[in-house]
Amino acid sequence: MTDKTQNMNKIDKEAVKQAFALYTAQYNREDPKIKLKIDHTYRVADLCERIAATVPGTYEDLAWLSGMLHDVGRFEQVRRYNTFTDAKSVDHAQFGADLLFADGLIDSFGPYDENYKSLLETVIRNHNRFRIDEGLTYEYKNYCQILRDADKIDILRVNVETPIEDIYNVSSDELKRAAVTEEVRQGFREKHAIPRAVRRTPADLLVSHISMVYELVYPISWEIVWKQGYLNDMLKFESENEETQKWFDFMRKELLEGRK
Ligand SMILES: [Fe+2]
Repeated sequence: MTDKTQNMNKIDKEAVKQAFALYTAQYNREDPKIKLKIDHTYRVADLCERIAATVPGTYEDLAWLSGMLHDVGRFEQVRRYNTFTDAKSVDHAQFGADLLFADGLIDSFGPYDENYKSLLETVIRNHNRFRIDEGLTYEYKNYCQILRDADKIDILRVNVETPIEDIYNVSSDELKRAAVTEEVRQGFREKHAIPRAVRRTPADLLVSHISMVYELVYPISWEIVWKQGYLNDMLKFESENEETQKWFDFMRKELLEGRK
């Protein structure tokens, strides 16, 4: 084995963080959207590591790396389209994976062999899909699930800490008056994530984000969600729309009573 090969796949976390800082320095950090995604990236990476530590046979640093890279497409998406809405711009996961693995951006994050690159590519391409691709190996599926859990946990934080206008380009007045679409309620009742296509109103977005918790795979992920408290905060949403308010009362009851 040559020295080069021996060094391959060694995940140097400090070097990865530096490469990430260098990459994001090309973008305007004053833009709240850019700042939001930088913070989100570090948090998702840490969450990946925490979750991976509870899953036997998982390499924590590799899970961490998938978190550091998962939203790399967001920066160019914001610069080009000034939105995070994939439907109005590009699918940010595919876009990011193309930058990394077709254009070679991955090489600025360290030398990794084809096995690592292939795993990371699959994990990143799958991170925002409604369902993970079928037929993945146990190992690939595991890393996919870790990243998806970590991402969902931090999206709950982002939803509470970030003004809704900055995330979705809707006003808080619109949100407060919005109804919840029946298909969206159905998804929550069936305890699964809500497909993007059925979301119609700003309140639907909120309900979909709450429903994401039903997709969490690892017990530690639920623990973190309850401990960090953002789900509870989202459930406290007060609507000026009577029907929506009743619906939130129902969701609160369901989730708090079903609390694991
Ligand atoms: Fe993402």
